Amino acid sequence: MHKDVERIFASEEEIAAVVRKLGAEITRDYAGKTPVFVGILKGCFIFMADLIRASQVPCTLDFMSVSSYGDGAVSTGAVKIEKDLSVNIEGRDVIIVEDILDSGNTLNYLVKYMGERKPASIRIVTLMDKPERRAVPITADYVGFSIPDAFVVGYGLDYQQRYRNLPYIGILKPEIYS
Ligand code: PRP
Repeated sequence: MHKDVERIFASEEEIAAVVRKLGAEITRDYAGKTPVFVGILKGCFIFMADLIRASQVPCTLDFMSVSSYGDGAVSTGAVKIEKDLSVNIEGRDVIIVEDILDSGNTLNYLVKYMGERKPASIRIVTLMDKPERRAVPITADYVGFSIPDAFVVGYGLDYQQRYRNLPYIGILKPEIYS
């Protein structure tokens, strides 16, 4: 285990089991369709790579990159697009892929933004959900882990851009971020 990690929240095996379950649900729900998975960078990249391989549906991919406005201390809820969609999603079944749903500000913005492009449908899949942190009423359609308000890193998630390459999801030691 990494020295900055207090404890492992989900092991590689536990993550794989959850991703398999989500993939099976998407396979069932999108039978006969060709959804477009839209990953929200950067945190989604490992989860998305595993999720699409666990989903037995024909699909296409795209990515967006967004950041919050402001100095980051307090989220204003405003979102800035760093990288926009590359494909036309009109008439498509969109599956937004997130690593974590926290205040909900990012997804609240993105659902409206993509909704204006007239997709056939939009659903959200998130590996992790922190429901007690929600500032706007948004829910994911597929949730891997519902988690308490702890600082999680690994499997794509960072603290100051580090720890994304840990193969498990770990809870960071408080002295690292306080
Ligand atoms: C994380 C996550 C979501 C957002 C969720 O991204 O991937 O996009 O925060 O937070 P919210 O529900 O409060 O809006 P982050 O800004 O850490 O960027 P990253 O994916 O590049 O690490």
